[in-house]
Amino acid sequence: MNLLTTAARTWLTHSTAPYRFTAQNDAVLRYDDCPGLGLYVHIPFCRSICNFCPYCKERYTPQAAEAYTAALLQEIHMVGRMQSSRTRVGSLYFGGGTPALVAPQLGSIIATLRQYYDITDGIGAELHPADVNEPTLTLLKKAGVTRISIGIQSFLPEFARCLGRPAPLPEKLAAALAQVPFETVSMDFIFALPGQKLEHIRQDLDTAFSHGANHVAVYPFIDFSFTGSPVHAMPGREKHRLLDELTAYCESRGLVRDSIWTFALPGNHRYSSMTRDTFLGFGCSATTLLRDSFKINTFSVAAYIDCIQKGQLPTALTTRFTRRQRMVYYLFWRAYSTFVSSADFKEFFGSEPETEFRSAFWLAHRLGYIRREQGGYRLTPRGAYYFHYFENFYTLAYIDKMWGIMRHTPFPESIEL
Ligand SMILES: C[S@@+](CC[C@H](N)C(=O)[O-])C[C@H]1O[C@@H](n2cnc3c(N)ncnc32)[C@H](O)[C@@H]1O
Ligand code: SF4
Repeated sequence: MNLLTTAARTWLTHSTAPYRFTAQNDAVLRYDDCPGLGLYVHIPFCRSICNFCPYCKERYTPQAAEAYTAALLQEIHMVGRMQSSRTRVGSLYFGGGTPALVAPQLGSIIATLRQYYDITDGIGAELHPADVNEPTLTLLKKAGVTRISIGIQSFLPEFARCLGRPAPLPEKLAAALAQVPFETVSMDFIFALPGQKLEHIRQDLDTAFSHGANHVAVYPFIDFSFTGSPVHAMPGREKHRLLDELTAYCESRGLVRDSIWTFALPGNHRYSSMTRDTFLGFGCSATTLLRDSFKINTFSVAAYIDCIQKGQLPTALTTRFTRRQRMVYYLFWRAYSTFVSSADFKEFFGSEPETEFRSAFWLAHRLGYIRREQGGYRLTPRGAYYFHYFENFYTLAYIDKMWGIMRHTPFPESIEL
């Protein structure tokens, strides 16, 4: 598995050098030259901890959340003051953990961000189904949230149970969503659980769209090595068939694919939390992607608060990209959104993607993975499957290793991927 990611990386980056992350902590971040900048804020609290979940989180207490949000506001001021003028950004996304748990504080976090950033493209937040009630939704809406993403996983008791979660009641969600509507209501599902068939996924998606969702994210179950999940990933061939079937089903319903795992009702609901060319991340475990560097904040809530109180950025690791590495990283995430715009690539790098990656584009075209479309290249359904396959390797080879280390070591010396 590692061989595959290493071979692909060596071919595409023209180098055998791994991505090397080291314990450098830049005192100043430069982001005035970043096209398509987005903002991400991590809220690492949950009511209870799910044994399959890889994200940085701990059990919610009001005291911990209060200390954390105070530090978060300070981090926003520190980073915001690094530019002399206001910065225009696309979207703001609150991920977790469960950001809705700090719904009463989101208003002041957003107001603080607005002191430095003009947010032009909406504000998203993740919710656990238990947060989908009128008072919490009203708080989110008043704070300025326009898009919500609810972690359903499955409405069907047998699959919810297999993930150790209660099955959400769709009528209850629909009633709250009807009282407090949002521009985008996305629901997250996990597929490729033992015994899961297309029929189960169809039921889940149909229930979502008939109970207030206008967008869904359907993630394949990933069995991270460091989580204590008793559930094992579905064998590749079975998962492939299920992914093909569910993609065909979404297409037959007229849904629009807006990233590898997300589908929207036709109309203006496009929404993906992950596909920004550059972004600033605030909070523990948050990542920041700039023109030529990528940094990761410490995963420890206590170490995060301690850094901020000392007036330091909470960076644990940084990598500096070569130009070629940065292009590969850029294309990876653009492929995730299923479309690579030649003009955007040129604006970022000053050259055409097909000139820089002539043989890779030729091969992808020959294999039927991409097709030429007005202004760029579109991933075909076949390409989307193989992208998924490669992303799965990438997740296990890179993310599993890095997060596995960082959840135990607040400040590792270095990590090579
Ligand atoms: C941060 S959580 C969402 C919000 C909320 N905390 C919740 O669980 O309802 C983000 C999403 O990641 C997905 N996820 C978590 N662990 C996963 C795993 N091991 N494999 C695939 N998807 C996973 C779930 O669909 C989850 O809703
Ligand atoms: S899946 Fe959601 S609720 Fe469960 S531990 Fe992860 S972030 Fe928390």
